[in-house]
Formats: sequence, structure tokens, C-alpha cells
Amino acid sequence: MQKTILLTGATDGIGLVTAKMLLAQGHQVLLHGRSADKLQRVEQQLAAEFSDATIEGFLADLSNLQAADELADAIARKHQKIDALINNAGVYKTPQTVTSQGLDSRFAVNTIAPYILTRKLLPLLGSQGRVINVSSAAQASVDIGALSGDKTLADMEAYSQSKLAITMWSREMASQPDSPVVIAVNPGSLLGSKMVKEGFGMEGGDLKIGATILTRLAVDDEFADASGKYFDNDAGNFGPPHADALDSGKSAAVVSAIEATIERLRA
Ligand SMILES: NC(=O)c1ccc[n+]([C@@H]2O[C@H](COP(=O)([O-])OP(=O)(O)OC[C@H]3O[C@@H](n4cnc5c(N)ncnc54)[C@H](OP(=O)(O)O)[C@@H]3O)[C@@H](O)[C@H]2O)c1
Repeated sequence: MQKTILLTGATDGIGLVTAKMLLAQGHQVLLHGRSADKLQRVEQQLAAEFSDATIEGFLADLSNLQAADELADAIARKHQKIDALINNAGVYKTPQTVTSQGLDSRFAVNTIAPYILTRKLLPLLGSQGRVINVSSAAQASVDIGALSGDKTLADMEAYSQSKLAITMWSREMASQPDSPVVIAVNPGSLLGSKMVKEGFGMEGGDLKIGATILTRLAVDDEFADASGKYFDNDAGNFGPPHADALDSGKSAAVVSAIEATIERLRA
């Protein structure tokens, strides 16, 4: 059955390969990108490659939380229902580590923007929808001050904390009544995207490894009951995330800090 899937960070790396896999299976893909030119190029490239496909592009720089709000609104204006949201957009090393709103860009893009997007799209997802949250093997205990923008961190520390934070809110959200199926996933380590090439100076592995698991988690029936779980694609199976993500007190504190940060910036 054809599904409608919103995929963030669809213009490069694992996201772009995932978009192609979903389109090849006949799904409707709502492509998100942050650069107008790059998004338009990718839309044209995919429309040429998949001539029968339904592709729609949506622009948003997710380091700006207002843009995350506006992206959700733009989706909701055009769609009454989406079957899956893949929160794939992510950043590791960047020249602009602090956003215009004073947050670390890793927490803004990797943790808080996907939280906003997901919360606002819950009515479109319903309890049968799926949210696939791209985490990482790199996970480190979250410093609430750093998440809230009161403290700066080194690149890897900020990245690892942002990825544990999205893993924590995934489990928390999955535990709520009528939640969609929410799954956090490490897509595989050191896959050869620009993040890995530029960030680690290496070629990296096959992006299809990551794209295949994102595609399967988003659409395959076998994962319909996997809400709240963490898929570790380095192991090729569900497994335990960082211990903090299994601690409901710590996870609730991270969710409260995310909500307080959003509220403060919206005020
Ligand atoms: N590659 C790996 O080995 C690996 C391992 C674990 C987890 N991951 C995760 O996998 C996801 C995909 O990463 P990737 O490796 O494919 O890296 P990538 O090629 O750099 O792709 C990242 C995507 O996120 C988008 N993005 C970055 N900053 C953004 C912002 N401010 N607003 C909106 N979109 C933004 C990028 O847009 P542009 O195209 O405009 O740059 C791009 O489409 C990320 O969440 C990453 O943390 C990757």
C-alpha cells in the first residue's frame, strides 16, 4: 500500500538514499531540505529518476525552531494524514555551533526541532503512524544546561548528547496514550555521508546500510509493534540504548527541559 512519508534531511547522505528507496517502493515522499537550491535540484533529480512518483518539497532550516513550527504548519495545510515521519536531518560539525536563538545547533537540529515537528504532526500521524528518530551509536549523558543553551560543548560531546536526548524523548513519547509508533535508530556507524567525510576525514561505509533500515522501520509491517524500542543497526537488531534512556526520571527531565526551552523561545 502506498504511504505518505515526511523525510527530513532528504537532500544528502542517508536521507537522499532513503528518499530513493521509498520512491522506488511507490511511496509518496514529502522531501524536506534546508537550502532552496539544493532542494530544488534534488526534487528535479528524483522526478526525473522516478517519473510516476509524487514528490513534494518543503524548505526549513531546522536550526531555527520557528522554522520547525512553520514546517509542521506547511505540512498540515497540505495533508490531513501522514503515515510516517522520519526525523533524519542532523548536524555534527558546523561553522555555526550556536544558533540565532542561542542554542547549540546540535541540540536544536538533532533533538528539539524533531520534537516540535513530531508534536505538531501527532494529529496527522494518529496512533497507527510511525515516527523514526535517527539517533547514533554516539550517545552521552545530557547536560540540561547545554541543551537549554546556557553552556557550550565540544563538537562530539554536543552531538552525542543531542543523540541521547532524541533517544530519550522517543521512549517517553512512545509511552504516552495514543502515541504513534516511535522508534529511535542508530542507522549504522561511519557511513560515507558528507557528515562522516568532512567530520572524520574518511570515506565511510555504504549509505544504503542506513537507508535500508530507515525505510524498513518506516514502512514494514514487522515493526508495527516496536514502539519505544531502539534499533542498533551496528548490531542489526533492537538493543539497549545508553542506560540514561532507560531511566524514566532522567528521560522526563530531558523532556521537561526541551519543553521549557521551546516555551521560552516562543514567548
Ligand atoms: N553517517 C553516519 O555514519 C551516521 C551515523 C549515525 C547517525 N547518523 C545520523 O544520520 C542522519 C543523516 O546524516 P548523514 O550521515 O546522512 O549526514 P549528511 O549527509 O550531512 O546529511 C544530513 C542532512 O541533514 C540536513 N541538515 C543539516 N543541518 C540542517 C539544518 N540546520 N536544517 C535542516 N536540515 C539540516 C542536511 O541538509 P543539507 O543537504 O542542506 O546539508 C542533510 O540533508 C543524521 O541525523 C546523522 O546524525 C549518521
